[in-house]
Amino acid sequence: MSEIRLKQSWELPSEPKPIVIIGCGGIVDDAHLPAYELAGFKVAGLFDVNPEKSRRLADKWGVGVFDSLDEAVANRDVVFDLALPPAVHTSVLPALPEGSTVLIQKPMGQDLEQASSIAQICRERKLTAAVNFQLRFAPMMLAVRDALDKDMLGELLDVEVHLNLLTPWHLFPFLIGASRVEISVHSIHYLDLIRSLLGNPSSVQARTMGHPATELAQTRTSANLVYTGDKRATMSINHNHSFGRKFQTAQIRFEGTKGCAVVKLGLLLNYPTGEPDEFWISSGDVDWQQVPLTGSWFPHAFIGTMSNLQRFASGEDQSLETSVEDAWHTMALVEAAFQSAAQPGTPVLDAPPQAQTFASF
Ligand SMILES: NC(=O)c1ccc[n+]([C@@H]2O[C@H](COP(=O)([O-])OP(=O)(O)OC[C@H]3O[C@@H](n4cnc5c(N)ncnc54)[C@H](O)[C@@H]3O)[C@@H](O)[C@H]2O)c1
Repeated sequence: MSEIRLKQSWELPSEPKPIVIIGCGGIVDDAHLPAYELAGFKVAGLFDVNPEKSRRLADKWGVGVFDSLDEAVANRDVVFDLALPPAVHTSVLPALPEGSTVLIQKPMGQDLEQASSIAQICRERKLTAAVNFQLRFAPMMLAVRDALDKDMLGELLDVEVHLNLLTPWHLFPFLIGASRVEISVHSIHYLDLIRSLLGNPSSVQARTMGHPATELAQTRTSANLVYTGDKRATMSINHNHSFGRKFQTAQIRFEGTKGCAVVKLGLLLNYPTGEPDEFWISSGDVDWQQVPLTGSWFPHAFIGTMSNLQRFASGEDQSLETSVEDAWHTMALVEAAFQSAAQPGTPVLDAPPQAQTFASF
């Protein structure tokens, strides 16, 4: 059986610019800084409103630290990397120099209204701005995209996201008390990924809810993205499966007219340490093969978002995959999902119509 080779990484910028990171929380330590070290990107320095946090990361990663936002934004010929709580982006973006290049952590604000404000600020300040929807750039997802480009799957008809696991939500204390949780901070990755492959759905049907074991507003979601024609995308997400590893799953199936790819999102099984991601493909007459992956969602995908942004800013890439304009549509889908979840579904009759009896069925 011949070995299947698929593209799994985004090309690096030929002349990477130094990066100024604003916000020094968990995700910067777990993914941004490891990714930039792997890629050989220089970090010009870190800033956090809590100086203990920026100093701790600066010491750990051997990079510089800025004492104020003014000092951080005084840097020129750099790329700004914002990793702030979602509601804070609208207050930091206006401080960046006009015409800057900036990567904004997902989600793009807390809701669609904030996403629209972020897009407006970026337009007014002439920022070259992308949102860090990095799942699209994970090695396994770039492999899916390459399999589609090589026509190994044919026309993509069916995407199914199936998660049944236990998520350590205590790592995200800022979510306590938030009215929007699961879709806004987690399933948003899948909504963005599905949009990048199938385009924008015309509508969505969704339910999202909590669980007695958690005080968070929602930790379970089911959603059905509606497309015209034969396309279908569906998600079943349960972050509360506390019955051991045996039936825990984190899988996405991409099924086309000629083949099927299945990925395992290993990171989510035992987050943030994770297990290795996996990629499997069956195409035409060729039986299932596992394609070895050359990296994982964390941190490798974070090299991709930063590379695409820098390459777009320098003219090396023609499109900015997760531009704020594109990301706005993911936020619109999130908004629609929450609206759908607040609507009643189609009522189910709980008794036969009056003229009939059960005996007549
Ligand atoms: N896969 C992913 O893409 C992924 C995963 C986790 C978190 N995130 C996102 O990354 C962002 C940060 O998440 P986190 O887990 O690191 O949170 P965190 O709470 O650990 O860190 C946020 C940091 O921002 C700092 N901060 C707040 N306001 C600031 C300001 N005005 N200026 C400078 N610093 C400020 C805080 O002091 C804190 O250190 C969130 O938007 C979250 O949704 C993305």
